[in-house]
Amino acid sequence: MTIAITGATGRLGGQVARALADLHPVLVVRDPAKAPELGGEVRQATYADGSACRAAFEGVDTLLLVSASESADRREQHRTAIAAAAEAGVRQVVYTSFVGAAADATFTLGRDHHDAEQAIRESGMAHTFLRDSFYADVLPFYADASGVIRGPAGEGRVAAVARADVADAAAAVLTDPAAHAGATYEMTGPEALTFAEIAERAGAVLGRALRFEDESEDEAYRWRREQYGAAQWQLDAWVSTYTAIRDGALARVSDDVRRLTGHAPRTLEEALASTSRLGARIDRG
Ligand SMILES: NC(=O)c1ccc[n+]([C@@H]2O[C@H](COP(=O)([O-])OP(=O)(O)OC[C@H]3O[C@@H](n4cnc5c(N)ncnc54)[C@H](OP(=O)(O)O)[C@@H]3O)[C@@H](O)[C@H]2O)c1
Repeated sequence: MTIAITGATGRLGGQVARALADLHPVLVVRDPAKAPELGGEVRQATYADGSACRAAFEGVDTLLLVSASESADRREQHRTAIAAAAEAGVRQVVYTSFVGAAADATFTLGRDHHDAEQAIRESGMAHTFLRDSFYADVLPFYADASGVIRGPAGEGRVAAVARADVADAAAAVLTDPAAHAGATYEMTGPEALTFAEIAERAGAVLGRALRFEDESEDEAYRWRREQYGAAQWQLDAWVSTYTAIRDGALARVSDDVRRLTGHAPRTLEEALASTSRLGARIDRG
């Protein structure tokens, strides 16, 4: 069985690749110079390039498709890569989706993940969806230079998941894909926390005073628009990160990490400890 892993130059894909190094997965990356050195085959492709993806997925049985970085045309990129996988004869796709992925999800990027799930379902390939919550080891880094996490999340709760747990779960699925064909798993942490709790607990681990400030949706849009001049889709993604939490869409705690990995999902503190260093770029999902 040949396994391929995309996003292997990133944190999640890189962790999965290292966990499965003994199975010699094919690493599909945009920049081979950045690929982890595991001794296996490295192929180059970006999702927007259908023919490069087709070539990169040739001979692959099981593909871990790590969702692309945020962009205005991410849906098309995913659809191109998924069509290429089907054409190349991939038998099963494991896709990193998002909790509550739906056409009308409050978190706007959750709608993109729904679109990708639909494309995979329609492709005829077997599939496993790992619907990730927000990453516990990313949320604290939404804080600004003065340690304030600001957004319209109110008292809403999020069962944020450690990226290391998503990596462990993906590795378990890729090791025995047939056992997980057709399954959708919810990747959450062990508890649902408010942003105020996340700020306090993460601050203690990071040695930094963090606090949460609630704001209205109008305020959230206004200052983000003024400060970053970002496109509307990007503003919607940023603001709906918080409103989705406020509205309870991320509050459910799932047992799927434990079921897949055999170990308890990492706490916020353990999630932060498992991420050595985060880069400056902070995607939402
Ligand atoms: N649930 C959440 O809270 C949350 C938070 C952040 C991200 N995410 C999603 O989860 C994914 C994995 O997270 P991560 O922490 O591992 O992110 P990461 O460290 O930024 O890695 C993303 C990986 O995907 C590759 N990639 C991005 N866009 C691509 C494209 N269009 N075509 C081919 N490869 C592409 C990147 O390649 P390069 O190295 O060439 O850039 C990198 O290897 C993210 O890409 C994002 O979709 C979810």
